[in-house]
Amino acid sequence: MKKRAKLEAKQAKRAERKECEKKERAALAAARKEEAAKRVAAMTTEEALAFRAECRKKREDRQAENKERKARLAAAVQSGQRIIIDLDFADFMTDQELRSLAQQLSFSYAANARAAVPAHLHLTSVAGRMGEVLHRQLSGMKNWLVTRAEEPYLDQFAGRSDELVYLTADSPNELEALDPGKAYIIGGIVDRNRHKDLCAGKARKQGIATARLPVSQHFKLTSSAVLTVNQVVEALLNFADLGDWRAALERTIPALPASNNGGAAEASGANAPAAANGVRAVAEPPEDEPAPKKSRIDAATVAVD
Ligand SMILES: C[S@@+](CC[C@H](N)C(=O)[O-])C[C@H]1O[C@@H](n2cnc3c(N)ncnc32)[C@H](O)[C@@H]1O
Repeated sequence: MKKRAKLEAKQAKRAERKECEKKERAALAAARKEEAAKRVAAMTTEEALAFRAECRKKREDRQAENKERKARLAAAVQSGQRIIIDLDFADFMTDQELRSLAQQLSFSYAANARAAVPAHLHLTSVAGRMGEVLHRQLSGMKNWLVTRAEEPYLDQFAGRSDELVYLTADSPNELEALDPGKAYIIGGIVDRNRHKDLCAGKARKQGIATARLPVSQHFKLTSSAVLTVNQVVEALLNFADLGDWRAALERTIPALPASNNGGAAEASGANAPAAANGVRAVAEPPEDEPAPKKSRIDAATVAVD
């Protein structure tokens, strides 16, 4: 009963926050409209006509850009590099971590939509508690141009598991390049690496190949580097664009090389790179959650439009 009341209070708070945000957006739009009207009122007829034409052109450009982006994403769903996000880890995450994961998925989708070479994103095991949180938090997800399934990836790839490569920092194999014939799996989990070897162990049990991104080859770290889900997606997208891991990783996590005179980045503590560069992981749980023992690369993630 207590639990139910707590849940209802939480839902009411969320609804209130959403309503507040909606009002703020409406107020901002009204203020912009008023500002534009004031500007137009102070213009000559010719100036006002030119101003309106400019606004129309901007709007049309934006619409054309959106259309093109959608077309590129639709093409990627047909023939792009396959990237699977395995969302079968709800039991290993707190509610806060699930929400962080939802945010990371939204960053990943936005990065793919902006990418020079978009990938074919698959979201698998979107079911149970995970499905509930994602559908609740990512209201736009139903319109995403991705392949989404309630089933685990092994169902989709039945008899074709040789096409799968599970990406994990715990793999002994370094990923040299992307093979268009393979589908790369990313563990959809936010755990501050509490569950070390979780994804590598799962892949071993399923007889799936594994690979790690060549992070330590390009950045001097005291231990292996565990990236967030969206950072891994972005690193793969950047590699597909640039064909070079160092450049791809630098673009993904720009804060690291910047503070090291363009050289290799040092990480000595749990959050050393983040602290040294004054950046933090926006999609990670708050600081009161236990910090990981191993080094991490935590960097501010790009903003989403
Ligand atoms: C936050 S990590 C999860 C760490 C988790 N303890 C595990 O067992 O992998 C999220 C996912 O990003 C991918 N990942 C993170 N760092 C990586 C790296 N250096 N190389 C390859 N994949 C990585 C993996 O797929 C991983 O499951």
